[in-house]
Amino acid sequence: MQAISSLGELTLCKSSNSCLCPDVVVNCAALSIPRACEMVPAAAMSVNVQSSLVNWLSSFEESSSLLIHLSTDQVYEGVKSFYKEDDETAPVNVYGKSKVAAEQFITEKCSNFAILRSSIIFGPQTISPVPKSLPIQWIDGVPSKGNTSEFFHDEFRCPIYVKDVVAVILAVSKRWISQTKVLLNVGGPDRVSRLQMAEIVADVRGYSPSLIKSVSASSLVWTLGIAPTSFRDGVRLKLETEAKPS
Ligand SMILES: NC(=O)c1ccc[n+]([C@@H]2O[C@H](COP(=O)([O-])OP(=O)(O)OC[C@H]3O[C@@H](n4cnc5c(N)ncnc54)[C@H](OP(=O)(O)O)[C@@H]3O)[C@@H](O)[C@H]2O)c1
Repeated sequence: MQAISSLGELTLCKSSNSCLCPDVVVNCAALSIPRACEMVPAAAMSVNVQSSLVNWLSSFEESSSLLIHLSTDQVYEGVKSFYKEDDETAPVNVYGKSKVAAEQFITEKCSNFAILRSSIIFGPQTISPVPKSLPIQWIDGVPSKGNTSEFFHDEFRCPIYVKDVVAVILAVSKRWISQTKVLLNVGGPDRVSRLQMAEIVADVRGYSPSLIKSVSASSLVWTLGIAPTSFRDGVRLKLETEAKPS
């Protein structure tokens, strides 16, 4: 097995004939923080569309390497639930756009690939801790200190446990070794809002549910500070107003 620390080293590696054609490549490299992608779109495109990796794999004579590429559920617009693989991609952020571009590049150039569109991946911290904040650890951080925190009640995802992602990768690499063209949505069995995720963490950890506050992800709330009335509250208000004697 050969470790390559940067995708830029691939050209060097091939030209010095120091690499053998790999059987399977699992590509986890990415600029994966949406906020960072939004700030420097060119960097997001250049890191996330891994043209040097794909070109390097294609450069081997009779290359049959299987490229397993980690993509994201953020390739979808997110206006409905339970997306299928053949649903249209319509990303709403730079991260999602760069991932769609990567998928297109791989689909055009590779003869043997599996694209895994993963939802939020959660699990324990790695042996060598990763710098970015991990989802459950981040959710746990505030109520564990007795502080309240707000979570979106209207953004839904299907978080997947990291071991399940590994199981998917192993299954794909064992089952399809040649002429693979696989596109899979990779999500857990539960469709949960950010609020529900926080409530579950609080429940499992034994924190007071009152520390978890519900807030909308709507731009109305974030840009104008207006929190629209829920339909149920609106119906109640309407009936109360009508019931008042004039
Ligand atoms: N985590 C999730 O919830 C989630 C959900 C859906 C999809 N995904 C996708 O799954 C994959 C793994 O996610 P992750 O959370 O593990 O991401 P991550 O923590 O941000 O790790 C990304 C890795 O890519 C490396 N990298 C960045 N640019 C590189 C380059 N030019 N050459 C070589 N390595 C480079 C980084 O190395 P350095 O640290 O040295 O910079 C880092 O180790 C990504 O493709 C991501 O888009 C993740």
